[in-house]
Amino acid sequence: MSFRYNFISLVYRIHFSQRLRQNSLLWKTVCAFAVRTVIQEREGLMSNVIKSRKAAVIGCGFVGSATAFTLMQSKLFSELVLLDVNREKADGEAMDISHGVPFAAPMKIYAGDYDDVADAAIIIVTAGANQKPDETRLDLVHRNVEIYKSIIPEIASRNFGGILLIVSNPVDILTYVALRLSGLPENRVIGSGTVLDTARMKYALGEHLRWTAAASIPPLWGNMVTARSRC
Ligand SMILES: NC(=O)c1ccc[n+]([C@@H]2O[C@H](COP(=O)([O-])OP(=O)(O)OC[C@H]3O[C@@H](n4cnc5c(N)ncnc54)[C@H](O)[C@@H]3O)[C@@H](O)[C@H]2O)c1
Repeated sequence: MSFRYNFISLVYRIHFSQRLRQNSLLWKTVCAFAVRTVIQEREGLMSNVIKSRKAAVIGCGFVGSATAFTLMQSKLFSELVLLDVNREKADGEAMDISHGVPFAAPMKIYAGDYDDVADAAIIIVTAGANQKPDETRLDLVHRNVEIYKSIIPEIASRNFGGILLIVSNPVDILTYVALRLSGLPENRVIGSGTVLDTARMKYALGEHLRWTAAASIPPLWGNMVTARSRC
């Protein structure tokens, strides 16, 4: 929308430039381009027009494939793109998860590239290196920042109009990195935050208290170590 507004206002300003009005061929070309831009945007050909029922997952490892499977079962989306630096892995996961579609709802699931994810309503980024046994979250950040530098600019350069949901760890830091690398507004770059920490805490307390009402525990606001697992 802002691109169209800026473009039309530019054309409007140019219209009153006496010199240009004298050059009718150039003026016709500018008008034709403006009209084509509006038509393309209407038809959804420009990538900042999102498909509200399309999602994408970048990184098809343990977390990415589980996320994709859950999205398939949720019936919230009708199209799901899987992208991984290992294309064969993305292909394999797309095929496997597609075979569950008959038990859920019609959905197109396929492995794709950055052009395929640009019009998704939401891109979930789970790509990353895994934490080594003696590695801290902060050591891990350097490796994952490098991975993000190869992913986020690819998305941003395609005029992505949806929401980025960051899952890779350290999630808070990588969410900030994604925000900076993408240039997207803050309300469109969201981290999974302490969802997992909260779930683990609820589960551990429920087990300890033999009580299933752990759902009433408020969310955790910081990362911590529960049940000997680093969250
Ligand atoms: N936020 C949370 O609550 C939470 C929970 C669990 C795991 N994690 C994090 O999620 C991330 C993924 O964990 P996992 O167990 O799935 O790891 P994994 O090693 O199984 O999968 C990572 C995937 O990312 C892919 N990848 C690497 N570089 C890429 C690139 N440049 N472009 C596209 N794909 C790329 C790899 O090929 C691999 O398939 C880790 O950072 C992990 O710490 C976060």
